[in-house]
Amino acid sequence: MIGATGQIGRAAVRALAEDGWRVRAASRGGGRDGSWPASVESVAVDRDDDAAVAALIGDGCDVVLDCVAYGRAHARQLLNLADRVGSAVVISTGAVYEDDQGRGFATQDRPDGDPRYPVPLPESQRTVPPGDGYGSRKVALERELLGAGDRLPTTLLRAGAVHGPHCRTPRELYFVKRALDGRPVRILAYGGRSRFHPVHVDNVAELVRLAAHRPGSRVLNAGDPQAPTVADIAAAVDAVLGVRSELVLVDGGPPHPHVGSTPWSLAHPLVYDMSAAGRELGYRPVTGYAESLPATVGWLADRLAAAPDWRTAFPDMAAAYDPMTDLFDYAAEDAWLRDGGSSPAL
Ligand SMILES: NC(=O)c1ccc[n+]([C@@H]2O[C@H](COP(=O)([O-])OP(=O)(O)OC[C@H]3O[C@@H](n4cnc5c(N)ncnc54)[C@H](OP(=O)(O)O)[C@@H]3O)[C@@H](O)[C@H]2O)c1
Repeated sequence: MIGATGQIGRAAVRALAEDGWRVRAASRGGGRDGSWPASVESVAVDRDDDAAVAALIGDGCDVVLDCVAYGRAHARQLLNLADRVGSAVVISTGAVYEDDQGRGFATQDRPDGDPRYPVPLPESQRTVPPGDGYGSRKVALERELLGAGDRLPTTLLRAGAVHGPHCRTPRELYFVKRALDGRPVRILAYGGRSRFHPVHVDNVAELVRLAAHRPGSRVLNAGDPQAPTVADIAAAVDAVLGVRSELVLVDGGPPHPHVGSTPWSLAHPLVYDMSAAGRELGYRPVTGYAESLPATVGWLADRLAAAPDWRTAFPDMAAAYDPMTDLFDYAAEDAWLRDGGSSPAL
């Protein structure tokens, strides 16, 4: 397993080990999760070092799970080892999709650039061209691996908005911190109706476990049994923390760059069709959004309590969002509310 100490890796190692697999768990730091049995071997490997990855595979293994593969080069690295690997499971993303007008995640900041995907969104939907962006590098990875399915059968899992403990870029922090800070309102663009299909790490791990048993050359959406609206998510986090806040729903886009835009705020829904995973792997989700939320919220609250500020607790989150928006600009929210919440939508 490459990327074993990440949020997905921790859950997948646990699921595979419980299922009887002997797991070698690699990350740069070589760490381990407290829930793993002692039989899991943890090793320090930088996946950008081809020789180290070859040594990780050693004489061979039945399955490789790769959580941190991007672009053609990582696909070729895996394919170069195909004679020693039975099959692979590789984590991809919903950012590969584009709508029938060529709009995807990367076009959202353009006029009329918000993607309108079919609901639900099947794996047959067209994808962005291969290239250098996040989604386009994943497309390059997918195509390279699928093109060599006869040498290395690979299941590519297009994960939705991943959630669970140990997330380095936790979307749920947006509402957890507001609740802990006693903010009285949750301002939500697009009428609070945004839907960005979530997937709990245990559901990704279950898909990995099933794919490990049924090798194939395929892409599958990876989602939870429900795709709640962002208003549902705000209310669910409040409920876990025992607070009540007022929802201020804004028609249309965010009224200010720092107001109303959450990590789930899409103009149009991204809701996966999960029937292929059920058909091909017999996937049945092992948890749901609301039932899994208390553990995630508890982990986030503990991390926040132990650090001087949220950027220290979640540096990758700050790096991911800070260039685009300030996630916690309460002064901008208050100013907008004082003005009657009437500024025109951007
Ligand atoms: N977050 C989302 O909502 C989302 C949505 C769709 C798809 N995805 C996909 O999910 C995957 C990320 O999984 P995750 O969220 O579980 O990751 P994560 O929590 O960010 O953890 C990354 C893991 O990979 C290891 N790692 C990073 N660089 C490495 C390298 N060069 N060599 C070896 N190990 C390395 C890290 O440990 P060290 O730092 O110790 O190396 C850690 O174990 C990506 O493929 C991403 O595209 C995420």
